[in-house]
Amino acid sequence: MRIAVTGSSGRLGTATVERLRAGGHDVVGFDLAAPAGQGFTRVDLADYGQTLDALLGVTARHDGVDALVHLAAIPVNGLVPDVTTFHANLTASFNTVFAALRAGVRAVVCASSITAMGFPFDEPPPYLPLDEDFTAANTTYGLVKVLEETMAGQLVRWDPGLSVTALRFTNIVTPDDYGTFARAGDPAYRRDLLGSYVDVRDAAAAVELALAAARPGAVVYDIAAADTGLTIPSAELARRWFPDVPLRRELREFETLISIDRARARLGYAPAHTWREEYAAGQAVPR
Ligand SMILES: NC(=O)c1ccc[n+]([C@@H]2O[C@H](COP(=O)([O-])OP(=O)(O)OC[C@H]3O[C@@H](n4cnc5c(N)ncnc54)[C@H](O)[C@@H]3O)[C@@H](O)[C@H]2O)c1
Repeated sequence: MRIAVTGSSGRLGTATVERLRAGGHDVVGFDLAAPAGQGFTRVDLADYGQTLDALLGVTARHDGVDALVHLAAIPVNGLVPDVTTFHANLTASFNTVFAALRAGVRAVVCASSITAMGFPFDEPPPYLPLDEDFTAANTTYGLVKVLEETMAGQLVRWDPGLSVTALRFTNIVTPDDYGTFARAGDPAYRRDLLGSYVDVRDAAAAVELALAAARPGAVVYDIAAADTGLTIPSAELARRWFPDVPLRRELREFETLISIDRARARLGYAPAHTWREEYAAGQAVPR
């Protein structure tokens, strides 16, 4: 399959391009900060003309794509004014997904975020483990993720052949980040993430699985590691952080408080990396 990946020079984009190429796919990367060379084109997704043209074809690169992975975004509030985060991200996402629809691309996978489901959880979640049925935004960044998911639900009605999958990633961790898990025994650590994290390689694997499972319609999946990032048992974390929030089922010792059941069941998502091994390995190897 030939796949366009936006945000291909970023944290998740780099790992996703690597993963998809390793899976035998022909990948074209679109980014503002594209490294020169075969397989990459510098595209500003704020410009609809550039976006549509780049999806339809790029001389010496490709003559059309089968699928789109949309990862480009300003990845957090605070880097630019909140209003700029809103305008930039919503514009880039509308341009990209609408261009895919116009270009006849039928499989789209987009990066959503747990900021679409209540991060930083100053207000307690309604239940735990928290799943895809709950939506709440508290920042302009999260608001765009909610709007993107909503937009996907409408655009698939306009084109019954279109598939849009939104992957709600939690905090994405690269192998270089595992040193921060030295704080895993601190109950305040990752409280705003419900204790969660996801290894960038598992996040990239989820993208590949979502492409393989693409069916007409819009669907949302939570993507997190199978465990929390803490050494405190999950049931105790839930009690300590949210004493009045109901647990929907008994939790395994360090089970994630962000449910990945849907991704496991429908995508075959099976996170392979845990900080419990990665952190120990990092301690053994001086950096
Ligand atoms: N990093 C996380 O913890 C995390 C968590 C949840 C969701 N996400 C989402 O995953 C996606 C990827 O995040 P990341 O951490 O790799 O971010 P990143 O900042 O590392 O990469 C984003 C890339 O998008 C590119 N980009 C931004 N605006 C662009 C534009 N107008 N045109 C072309 N390229 C543009 C940037 O140049 C950058 O290379 C984003 O949608 C982000 O919101 C990230």
